[in-house]
Amino acid sequence: MKKTRIAVLVSGGGTNLQALLDAQHSGKLPHGEIVAVISSQIDAYALDRAAKAGVPGYAVSRKELGSQEAFEAGISRLLAQYRVELVILAGFMSILSENFTRQWPHRILNVHPALIPSFCGKGMYGLHVHEAALRKGVKVTGATVHFVNEIPDGGEILLQKAVEVLPGDTPELLQQRVMEQAEWQLLPQAAELVSAQIVKDKEDPHD
Ligand code: GAR
Repeated sequence: MKKTRIAVLVSGGGTNLQALLDAQHSGKLPHGEIVAVISSQIDAYALDRAAKAGVPGYAVSRKELGSQEAFEAGISRLLAQYRVELVILAGFMSILSENFTRQWPHRILNVHPALIPSFCGKGMYGLHVHEAALRKGVKVTGATVHFVNEIPDGGEILLQKAVEVLPGDTPELLQQRVMEQAEWQLLPQAAELVSAQIVKDKEDPHD
């Protein structure tokens, strides 16, 4: 069996990347193989995590390259170089243009730290999402893994998990609970689901 070749795109701490690397290490990603990590931030700790796991890591900075086109061309070059079949956005804080996403229909996954369609879309990323949930006073939030299309957080939903909001929560406490109870479980599960489907499609293209 030829495993699905996965690239993980990151921007920061990379705990979701770590969950994927751990899943692979413990046999929970049998149909996928993480072949490269690409960071939009040169100093992202996620790149250290990739290095520790022996996975090649690269930084592609939009700021340094000067335009969205050059940024996406840099990412595309690496994806081609590593013959990537599935792209996973794991705490990736840049928006990808339609020009990019339409080249990867149902081949880009994203984890979002809320129950879409709540607290999502432009400007809703990282701690902002949890601040908005607390401001609204919701009693339940969670995480969503979805396919990425040209609408920010608008692609088909694959998996969701609810997490309780507790009295006294701060954005940081809530973020940590959503990660522990939802994101770090859902993302590896989704990666395996889609990887297995890609392997199956390669083996029986006419099914
Ligand atoms: C995670 O909570 C992830 O869901 C969120 O940023 C955090 C990154 O943490 N992503 C977004 O908000 C994307 N719209 P990590 O770098 O430790 O995985």
